[in-house]
Amino acid sequence: MWVFIFCGLIAFTGKAVSSSCPVKLSSPTSVVRYKDPFSANCSSSSDQVEGMGWESTNGGVPLSNESTFLALNIDSVTDWHLKPLCFINFYDGDQCAGTLPVTVYKMPDSVSMSPPSEMGPLVEGKKYRMQCDIFNVAPVRNLSVHWHKGNEIVYTETFDESTVTPVNKSSVLRRAAHADDNGTQIWCEATLKFFGVPDLDPIQSKSHGLIVLYSPIFSKPENETLEASADSQVTLNCTARGNPMPEYSWQFPHPIQRTDKKQIKNQPILTPSFQLTGTYSCTASNTQGTKTKYFTVNGAKRDRTTFAALVGVFTALGVLLFIGGLYFVTPEGTFSLLKGSYLRGKPTSGPV
Ligand SMILES: *[C@@H]1O[C@H](CO)[C@@H](O)[C@H](O)[C@H]1NC(C)=O
Ligand SMILES: *[C@@H]1O[C@H](CO)[C@@H](O)[C@H](O)[C@H]1NC(C)=O
Ligand SMILES: *[C@@H]1O[C@H](CO)[C@@H](O)[C@H](O)[C@H]1NC(C)=O
Ligand SMILES: *[C@@H]1O[C@H](CO)[C@@H](O)[C@H](O)[C@H]1NC(C)=O
Ligand SMILES: *[C@@H]1O[C@H](CO)[C@@H](O)[C@H](O)[C@H]1NC(C)=O
Repeated sequence: MWVFIFCGLIAFTGKAVSSSCPVKLSSPTSVVRYKDPFSANCSSSSDQVEGMGWESTNGGVPLSNESTFLALNIDSVTDWHLKPLCFINFYDGDQCAGTLPVTVYKMPDSVSMSPPSEMGPLVEGKKYRMQCDIFNVAPVRNLSVHWHKGNEIVYTETFDESTVTPVNKSSVLRRAAHADDNGTQIWCEATLKFFGVPDLDPIQSKSHGLIVLYSPIFSKPENETLEASADSQVTLNCTARGNPMPEYSWQFPHPIQRTDKKQIKNQPILTPSFQLTGTYSCTASNTQGTKTKYFTVNGAKRDRTTFAALVGVFTALGVLLFIGGLYFVTPEGTFSLLKGSYLRGKPTSGPV
């Protein structure tokens, strides 16, 4: 057993020696577009270098007597597996090498999106499926597909595959249709992302406008309690949105109001012509559903006190008139002659 461990140590040390090759590879970039030029530098810090060379499928440089640096210049990168190798020969006959990892990329030729596979308009709550096809892109592991809906990115897909040559890829979006989706644009976008490289311009598909059928949604969904007063009208607002457009119907607390039913049919806003208190209800409906909202109209407190005050004033007036009548009307009346003559006699006899 100890023998095996000892052998393992030797093997590891051996590898470490070759990776400590005193070679330095540098390039302005490690990411290059297919068919673009590419350049790199090989240099060595050792003073024992006899010569160096580049081995590369594109633009290799044969062993030369350079001892400090050697440039590699490729006019057009056409190898998806490009992996330039710089080797150094020392005076003592040793040789070592270093490789430069390069990523060769190609933006997609086209990105296309198919509309939802479901026939006709989408229905709120139901799932739909859309597909985005990306043609001829490399390398696929640096591909990001973003699905945009209006101003937001709703889904991002990446691909964990090692193929470095161009491939076709599809991204599938599965979502439940939402009322707010109606009228928004949806599209997909493909781009390649590399560390330390500025974002490349994404390629977009054409966009598709979603149409979603949904049941009515009130602008103000809460039930309302309103105060009716003599000097201001109450407004019952039942406005709702929905696809198709909702239709409205009203229920009244008082039978008397049902007479002008035709006039208020299918009106989202109701301004009752006379303030009758009670609970009104409004129903907004379309092919997708029905929603009901309640309005409670109360007589205002201020009006009740005004009314009470008015009643008080009239009652007081009535009492006054009645009492006044006793004093000023009965004397001329015929039902109490005895009392009248007594009263009439008193003032006439007084001053005289
Ligand atoms: C390679 O190195 C030399 C000397 O340092 C420099 O002049 C040249 O611009 C470098 N070329 C590249 C492609 O880095
Ligand atoms: C990608 O799709 C195009 C068009 O359908 C086809 O011509 C091409 O061969 C496909 N490429 C690959 C790598 O499958
Ligand atoms: C739904 O979207 C369509 C298409 O943009 C638009 O014409 C319609 O007014 C929208 N309807 C509602 C109720 O939002
Ligand atoms: C490409 O993507 C892979 C996986 O996300 C990542 O590890 C790699 O660094 C990327 N390549 C570059 C050059 O950024
Ligand atoms: C409105 O009132 C009705 C009946 O009282 C009730 O069923 C409903 O939940 C209420 N709606 C809201 C949004 O409060």
